[in-house]
Amino acid sequence: MQGIDEVTGNRIPLLAANWKMNNTITDTRLYFEDFFKLSPSIEGREVIFCPPFTSLQSARMLISGKRGIHLGAQNLFWKESGAYTGECSGLMLKDLGVEYVIVGHSERRGHFRETNRIVADKLRSALDCDLRPILCVGEKEKTRRSGKTLQAVKRQLKEAIGNISQEDMRRTVIAYEPVWAIGTGLTATPKQAAEVHMMIRQTVADLHGGSIAAETRIVYGGSVTPDNIVSLMEEGDIDGALVGGASLKPTSFLRIIFYDSQKMISG
Ligand code: PGA
Repeated sequence: MQGIDEVTGNRIPLLAANWKMNNTITDTRLYFEDFFKLSPSIEGREVIFCPPFTSLQSARMLISGKRGIHLGAQNLFWKESGAYTGECSGLMLKDLGVEYVIVGHSERRGHFRETNRIVADKLRSALDCDLRPILCVGEKEKTRRSGKTLQAVKRQLKEAIGNISQEDMRRTVIAYEPVWAIGTGLTATPKQAAEVHMMIRQTVADLHGGSIAAETRIVYGGSVTPDNIVSLMEEGDIDGALVGGASLKPTSFLRIIFYDSQKMISG
């Protein structure tokens, strides 16, 4: 079963690096040189690197054959081919050897006006292209201040996963990323995050059944660092992290990956 440890039956922690618009091909090579110099083998967790489109190919070659490490893209278009200048389809990503794709990141929703409808179309296309979507949901600061966080996140979630099949849900990862915490140094407290994660799992259960909800990985994102990852991971419904800024240095991302034994990584 995808994402479940066959021996313990627990969800496998998932740590994803969202490099955003950072790291050229040369930077990518240097990054992985450092990363693999420092890294013991990756076991008992799943690590995903999401470089920009232009570095996907070199990242794919550099991580090839490395256990526990997977390749993800940051975005896709919702059609497989056609006259869509500047876009990149799920089919093309799959062809390149990409396994995961981030869908509905708040920077896409904000800067590029991606609506819940567009996010749902992208999710559909990712699944149709046999990719594993990492669906991002999260409230803005104003929404949190007005006490409507759960309502807003639930709506984003339902509009994305309301019409997918159980099989599709099994392949989908959810990332809860409060918009006010992304790149700001402000993190949701473990309690704040846990409350939303619990609601997300319950919503998945309502839509797709309890056993699928129990298998679904729900990761947290928003200013995750080596210092706050441990307390976030102590919450039962937090299954990992989507990491932006702190994933750009191999040392800090490795400390996040090995959150349960940070002393193994020096630097
Ligand atoms: P951050 O970004 O870790 O830099 O806050 C997270 C994200 O946007 O996925």
